Amino acid sequence: MLSELAATALLALSLRSIISLNAYSGYNKPPMFGDYEAQRHWQEVTVNLDVKEWYTNGTHNDLQYWGLDYPPLTAYHSYLVGLAAKSHNASFVELHSSRGVESREHKSFMRLTVLVADVLIYLPAIWILSAAIDRTFQSNIKQVLLLLLALYPGQVLIDNGHFQYNNISLGLAAIAIAAILCDKNFLAAFMFTLALNYKQMELYHALPFFSYLLGTTLSHKSFKSFATQLTAIATIVLTVFAILWLPWLHSIDAASQVLHRLFPLGRGVFEDKVANVWCSINVIFKLKKYFLNHQMALICLGTTLITVLPTNIILFWRRSKPMFLLTLFNTSAAFFLFSFQVHEKTILLVALPAICLFQWWPSEMLWFLEVSVFSMIPLLRRDHLLVPSAAATVLFHIVFKSDYFKDNKEQILENKLLNMTIIISEILMIFIVIGFIAIKPSARYPDIWPLIISVVSCAHIFLFLVWGYVKQIMQCNRKLNDKVE
Ligand SMILES: *[C@@H]1O[C@H](CO)[C@@H](O)[C@H](O)[C@H]1NC(C)=O
Ligand SMILES: *[C@@H]1O[C@H](CO)[C@@H](O)[C@H](O)[C@H]1NC(C)=O
Repeated sequence: MLSELAATALLALSLRSIISLNAYSGYNKPPMFGDYEAQRHWQEVTVNLDVKEWYTNGTHNDLQYWGLDYPPLTAYHSYLVGLAAKSHNASFVELHSSRGVESREHKSFMRLTVLVADVLIYLPAIWILSAAIDRTFQSNIKQVLLLLLALYPGQVLIDNGHFQYNNISLGLAAIAIAAILCDKNFLAAFMFTLALNYKQMELYHALPFFSYLLGTTLSHKSFKSFATQLTAIATIVLTVFAILWLPWLHSIDAASQVLHRLFPLGRGVFEDKVANVWCSINVIFKLKKYFLNHQMALICLGTTLITVLPTNIILFWRRSKPMFLLTLFNTSAAFFLFSFQVHEKTILLVALPAICLFQWWPSEMLWFLEVSVFSMIPLLRRDHLLVPSAAATVLFHIVFKSDYFKDNKEQILENKLLNMTIIISEILMIFIVIGFIAIKPSARYPDIWPLIISVVSCAHIFLFLVWGYVKQIMQCNRKLNDKVE
């Protein structure tokens, strides 16, 4: 067991190190650069300015230039990394003059900080999650799940390639999911609150946690135990928030400034092409011509609520652990498709629950994971990460598509149909990627390939949402014994 664990960790770190050798977001693209510079700039700001100034515009903190737009836990993390940077080479985080540092030495430092987060948070977290799934469902799948989580190209390409720290928020969320599966509800509330305070996009996962925990506390027989449970969970959540937000709680202005940074309504319904419904509709129906920004925000809110509420209400009434995982998948997919200001990378939040469902629907979920990488291809190409993306995805496909992991039920018609559909879809995606690389778009439609990729991915993700709902409704008719066919 231990040797398997060590082998997986080594494999995971090797893959990440190899991806790290490649380019990152915004390399050599002054004056704004990209996410790499954003992360570095937050280190510069947090190390040099007083904590009260981190989220506010000022002479030393021009928010137009990569102002902090993640919650406090990200800011504290930037501060810690910034301190390390300062002691390593103060020029990395010197106020103003460090903008756009991109020496080899600095790249090694930055890449190393992501690997440190992998070792300290992501890898232990996915080990805990795969053990929890294995124990809860007696599925004997721990090793496969661990490998799947460790080698999923989407997360590696974005964190160790493009440059971000999703490994931290996803790791914290993975532990929270594991805690739910092991009936450690207080721990789940604690871990999830941390995840939410690292990246506000974790809101995509919030409703299923809320429905599940509320349903659990309400199921207590006596009012007294219900009240103590609910109070305990609320206390945990509020205490974590209060501690993390303490520097900005002295005035309403300060707190609302942070909130305003986290939810920048002014930035519009989407920025780059993204595989969601709004970007796809926008192809033929220019949304900006018909709706003001705040109207669009309300439309997003309404459609998101309509698509996420049913799945969470079902979870609330028919609470079970497989149902919880399905609801996480449905809710995050619906948020991705319908909410406001969605980024391509946010698909990683849907990928995490997809991996948790792998034991029941291996072919479907593997397909989803590949679609998720496909949907990020324009972003990865901009970062010059196309070759590592293709290599990592092909490797992933070969490892997990082998017959060993296929369910050995006899090939009923439904399975044949599914396999056919998957093959057709995968061939389509491969051809689109080849077209994207090889065929130069005409001057009239310069964005045609990213657009095709967005629309095709969006159609896939939408069908997956429908699929998730169908599976969930089928699940309702079963006895709640935590068994899924
Ligand atoms: C923020 O501060 C910078 C100078 O640091 C200034 O150029 C910019 O106009 C300010 N922005 C706002 C919105 O006040
Ligand atoms: C510190 O980093 C800068 C920029 O990367 C580099 O030019 C300089 O040589 C480094 N200093 C030392 C002492 O390594």
